[in-house]
Amino acid sequence: NAYRLAVIPGDGIGKEVVPEGLRVLEAVSTKFGCVLNVDHFEFASCDYFQKHGQMMPDDWKTRIGGHDAIFFGAVGWPETVPDHVSLWGSLIQFRREFDQYVNLRPVRLMPGVPTPLANRKPGDIDFFVVRENTEGEYSSIGGRMFTNTEREVVIQETVMTRVGVDRVLRYAFELARRRGKHLTSATKSNGISITMPYWDERVEEISQGYPDVKWDKYHIDILTAHFVQHPDWFDVVVASNLFGDILSDLGPACTGTIGIAPAGNINPERKFPSLFEPVHGSAPDIAGQGIANPVGQIWSAALMLDHLGETAAAAGVVQAIEEVLSRPEYRTRDLGGSAGTADCGKAIADAILG
Ligand code: NAI
Ligand code: MG
Repeated sequence: NAYRLAVIPGDGIGKEVVPEGLRVLEAVSTKFGCVLNVDHFEFASCDYFQKHGQMMPDDWKTRIGGHDAIFFGAVGWPETVPDHVSLWGSLIQFRREFDQYVNLRPVRLMPGVPTPLANRKPGDIDFFVVRENTEGEYSSIGGRMFTNTEREVVIQETVMTRVGVDRVLRYAFELARRRGKHLTSATKSNGISITMPYWDERVEEISQGYPDVKWDKYHIDILTAHFVQHPDWFDVVVASNLFGDILSDLGPACTGTIGIAPAGNINPERKFPSLFEPVHGSAPDIAGQGIANPVGQIWSAALMLDHLGETAAAAGVVQAIEEVLSRPEYRTRDLGGSAGTADCGKAIADAILG
């Protein structure tokens, strides 16, 4: 099959790890025969901002809206552009305008990656966090009253819509069904007594359509403890925007360094392109040295292939990452090795070609 990719490296190490992702995608097209037509874009970067006074051209939506997916590096260069300007002017626009209502993060223990969890080995931990990415606790409804007085009141509402809750739950149940395993829902309906019981009700209702998928639920507080103590219990974990934000940082933290973690911002209906990016940022402290770990970007390519329906290619990339990480000579500095960004990327591309 053939796909059109919009490639946006962004800033800092984004410009170093994206080429490694593309190198691996080239190997994938050779090995698996999918055609990837790549268009490169310089906007959504602080360099672009310095030249044009804004992060993106006014017609950015028509320029990349017709692509099958966006392959994104990282945005941010606080020395020249404040972070809230660079982030809100680019990544947040993509997520909202392209209705990427699922934030997907795999949590998988890879060989050669130090984990803070004792007695865990690769194979023990392998699950996904599915975070609602558009509503919930992250609403702009609220306000302040009696500001700077003793009577000061600050309110921010949580917004859950039936459409918004149901669609992310369905995505999670579908994923659990596809993996042949089970689903866990994060709740807090003992304390948050209106929205969270509603979330639970919708899980109950949607689950009727998936009689083959077993599911359970935990309150978010004990769930975070289980992530650390029993990560082997989980397969697909679905959560509201805030709870999912927390879990999707905690999961990857349990399984190693920020340099390897990937994320998908997904519009499952494919009405708009989905965006795949490493979890890390532009890392100004190591940018330009050729030492950044490219695995987060390359793993994001695997998530993208999976989303496009190229499941064999996606599995091939993950397997190649595991093969290469198990060899110390290809590990970058953050993993205790001395390989450069390109050494690691090239080794993964070679492993795919076999
Ligand atoms: P960061 O993720 O860029 O860096 C945090 C630490 O992790 C640094 O010490 C960095 O050297 C290290 N690190 C990150 N990725 C690495 C890799 N691939 N290999 C080896 N080490 C790696 O987060 P930070 O420093 O908070 O933010 C820097 C800039 O990135 C800011 O402008 C921020 O707004 C932006 N940012 C952008 C994100 C995105 O584009 N999605 C996400 C997070 C931050
Ligand atoms: Mg976060």
